[in-house]
Amino acid sequence: MVEKQYSSWKIIKRLLSYYSKKKYLLLLSCILIFLSTITEISSPIILSNFISNILKNKVVKIKSAILLTICFITLQILSSLLNYLYNLYFSKISTEIIKELRINIMEIALKQPMKIFDQKPISSIVTKITNDTESIKEFYEVIVSSFLKNFILFSIILTTMFILEWRMALISSIIIPIVIMIIIVHQYYSKPIIKKIKYSLSQLNNTISEIINGITIIQQFNQEKNFIEKINIINNANYLNKMKILKIDGLLLRPLLNLISSIILSAIIAILKLVPKAMIKISILHTFINYLRHLNEPIVTIVNQQSVLQQAIISSERVFRFIDLPIQIYGTYNNSLTSGKIQLKNVYFKYPNTKNNILKNINISIPNKSCIALVGKTGSGKTTLSNLILGYYPATKGTIYIDDKLINSLSNSTLRKNISIVQQDPTILYDNLITNVSLNRKIKNKKIIKALHQSQLKELINTLPDGYMSILGQNGSNLSQGQKQLIGIARILVSNPKILIFDEATASIDSESEQKIQKILSSIRKKSTVIIIAHRLSTIIDSDIIIVLDNGKIIEKGNHQQLLQKKGLYYTMYTYQNNNTYL
Ligand SMILES: Nc1ncnc2c1ncn2[C@@H]1O[C@H](COP(=O)(O)OP(=O)(O)OP(=O)(O)O)[C@@H](O)[C@H]1O
Ligand SMILES: [Mg+2]
Repeated sequence: MVEKQYSSWKIIKRLLSYYSKKKYLLLLSCILIFLSTITEISSPIILSNFISNILKNKVVKIKSAILLTICFITLQILSSLLNYLYNLYFSKISTEIIKELRINIMEIALKQPMKIFDQKPISSIVTKITNDTESIKEFYEVIVSSFLKNFILFSIILTTMFILEWRMALISSIIIPIVIMIIIVHQYYSKPIIKKIKYSLSQLNNTISEIINGITIIQQFNQEKNFIEKINIINNANYLNKMKILKIDGLLLRPLLNLISSIILSAIIAILKLVPKAMIKISILHTFINYLRHLNEPIVTIVNQQSVLQQAIISSERVFRFIDLPIQIYGTYNNSLTSGKIQLKNVYFKYPNTKNNILKNINISIPNKSCIALVGKTGSGKTTLSNLILGYYPATKGTIYIDDKLINSLSNSTLRKNISIVQQDPTILYDNLITNVSLNRKIKNKKIIKALHQSQLKELINTLPDGYMSILGQNGSNLSQGQKQLIGIARILVSNPKILIFDEATASIDSESEQKIQKILSSIRKKSTVIIIAHRLSTIIDSDIIIVLDNGKIIEKGNHQQLLQKKGLYYTMYTYQNNNTYL
């Protein structure tokens, strides 16, 4: 597949396209910026006129002084109000865009084919939703807003200067290329340091999350001191680089620019001597002194925000690459299945990141409401086979039929409603027990509680502080492995799937509870097709068909008695376990 190209310009254009739905609000913000800038720059003009009046009349008129004060205060209040409003609207626009983007990423993540999660760490998706969108928000809230504000400010100041006195404005314009040159030099020296600061910051984040995640191991192996030292080294590097940046900024940026402004001002005054006195009014000179200081500020701000822009572009590229990924395509058959019949014909399968086939030439025919067991050594492909039946991955070669329909003709909702799995390690949500069973499906509490009792969880509920409403820790940290598996079983007891897969679902459950669950299982077997994956062979001996997988191939097939008579791998595994050797 050819990698899609994402140039910086294309990314900026795409980011700006998000404004299309908010163009009126954006236009309003621009008008507010314009008005606020006008109020901001009119103060020096008013003041200059006042000065020139004094100079002309040689007296300070009380009336005009009061008028000036009122004008000044009104302008200040108006300017603050307009400033507040445009900032408010800009934040509103950017927050709304980011909200839309986050929902977009989440929707795409939920529709991703399973293979994506084998290739990308889950944390990278979390980063996209949290950190990356935050730095994209900076693009809208800081970059665009300040670009517009400063561009308008710069243009209005320059235009006013030219209107007031074009020759002086021309001399003042010299400052523009000088400012740009200083900024280029500044960037040249500061960029590598900023890069180092960013690197040390991400190292700091990684190390801290490493420490927090591995805290038990660190304490167990008495490694606290080493980790503190590691943090200290990174922290120190970060501090030293930050100091360097402060020094460069302090030297190169504003002081130097102020110096140049003063030189230009001196040049203007010197030129004043050369032109007839009457040509340039004192009031204009005052306005120029004021504006000259303001002229370099917008350029400095715009160029200085380059690093924020760069970061936003990098984040956007990551987010857009993710958004543009192809989503999982399902079929259109949306009705409920009539049976739990499964057929696999010449199925081969390899994961996107594996070289060889994990499943080879699999042919199985599972009648409706039968009980099938998949056995085999660790890594033989049992879970992989169940993943294909669940429709999580398409077969690389061969065909899979569910209820006599091609698996890829079934819609996502038909697949999920009719095929359920109880996994080796069920995911537990940071929520109460009821929600952990219902998974937000519309199921009556009474039914959920019954399922929890059937799954032998009564004892656990009695020990929890808030009973059914107790919050379970993140990923079930306050539950044992066996309890998690029992919750997994309760989840499928509240639905009636046509096909049920138990992947090592009872491996960590004590034998007393397991026997009770076996009883529930036998009642489920009357209604659904059941596939059991188990290492403990004693739990599957009464299955209708036992399929023995070895290195991705079916090597034996039959019921318990038939397989024992064959004296093959199943026989060996079974006799090993009977001699109390766990495989
Ligand atoms: N997501 C994946 N990406 C790449 N390879 C995988 C992935 N999942 C499993 N494999 C590989 O596929 C092979 C079969 O794995 P599978 O999980 O199906 O084995 P299993 O029979 O269920 O083992 P166990 O009894 O330990 O659960 C293994 O070699 C494994 O390394
Ligand atoms: Mg497995």
